[in-house]
Amino acid sequence: MTTYKIAVYPGDGIGPEVVEQAVRVLRKLEQTESGLAFALTSFDWGIERWKRTGQVVPDDFLTQLRPFDAILLGAVGWPALLPDHETLAPLVKIRQAFDQYACVRPAKLFPGLKSVLADKGPEHIDFVVIRENSEGEYVDNGGFLKRGTPDEVAIQTAVHTRRGVERILRYGFEMARTRRRHLTMATKSNAQRYAYMLWDEVLAQLAPEYPDVTTERQHCDACVMNFVRWPERFDVVVASNLFGDLLTDLGGILGGGLGLAPSTNTNPERRFPSMFEPVHGSAPDIAGKGNANPIAAILSAGMMLAHLEQPAAATRITRAVERTLAAGNKTPDLGGSLTTQQMGDAVLKFLD
Ligand code: IPM
Ligand code: MN
Repeated sequence: MTTYKIAVYPGDGIGPEVVEQAVRVLRKLEQTESGLAFALTSFDWGIERWKRTGQVVPDDFLTQLRPFDAILLGAVGWPALLPDHETLAPLVKIRQAFDQYACVRPAKLFPGLKSVLADKGPEHIDFVVIRENSEGEYVDNGGFLKRGTPDEVAIQTAVHTRRGVERILRYGFEMARTRRRHLTMATKSNAQRYAYMLWDEVLAQLAPEYPDVTTERQHCDACVMNFVRWPERFDVVVASNLFGDLLTDLGGILGGGLGLAPSTNTNPERRFPSMFEPVHGSAPDIAGKGNANPIAAILSAGMMLAHLEQPAAATRITRAVERTLAAGNKTPDLGGSLTTQQMGDAVLKFLD
């Protein structure tokens, strides 16, 4: 019997609602998959905790998370009460402190769903964006000068290390080898001649080691356009932290909507726990209504199981979601009227 220790961090807004359904799926797998068990520990971190204690997370939140095998996150952020950079800070800290440098975000349109793109179907939209998740534009490196004066200056400097660029590109090459063997690197080296020149150089150095993978460079501005007009030309896309952030919201909507888009924050060496979360945020506008789409959270739990080397259980989740959507089950974001719970029920039914 393998028991995985999972930290559950439902967070804010619709986070708890969608995570509840992902947990139901894990519980069902536990009952039906021999040798698999989960020890789940739930953390009440987020805006509710802030209301009680003045802190979104305790000071030692990283120490508390460190012993777990994985973290399942819902969503963070409640901008009406607290600025986003405060509620979201723990999320970025977890990614960086646990060296979760590979953020994997599939953009895959499931059969039964209509694309936002005219004349594009599931056969056209199946790519994965790998976002560098530990450095780049998200490094907390900057400051203010002459704060509060008319001459105020804000400086925020991105950091790109050769080691960081190399490891994410290698991760992309390895993933391409499990797919259609095509890697696109999205940068902006025509305008940013230090950071993305480094990316260009590292790609050129690595490509000969992966002769079975074709490579291509695109500037990020062209890449967003090409996602829309030629999604079928993409297989694996590797991008820096901020570009990856932008590309994956677009990837999410191409894949049927953010209600369906899962994500990993992976430490491939497994020196630290990895974290799994839907790409969507806390969605305050629909929070508490019980009709958020739980599929992104459920698929994120599936990616967690793949990372934990439980491929059979992971595949059962993906298949159940495929069948759920193919059968026409839809929450309001997909144009239907199912509740979060009913969508969870449908997935559970197809897990059999
Ligand atoms: C994401 C989110 C986060 C990010 C926010 C919440 C800090 O947009 O996971 O894509 O920018 O990384
Ligand atoms: Mn984002």
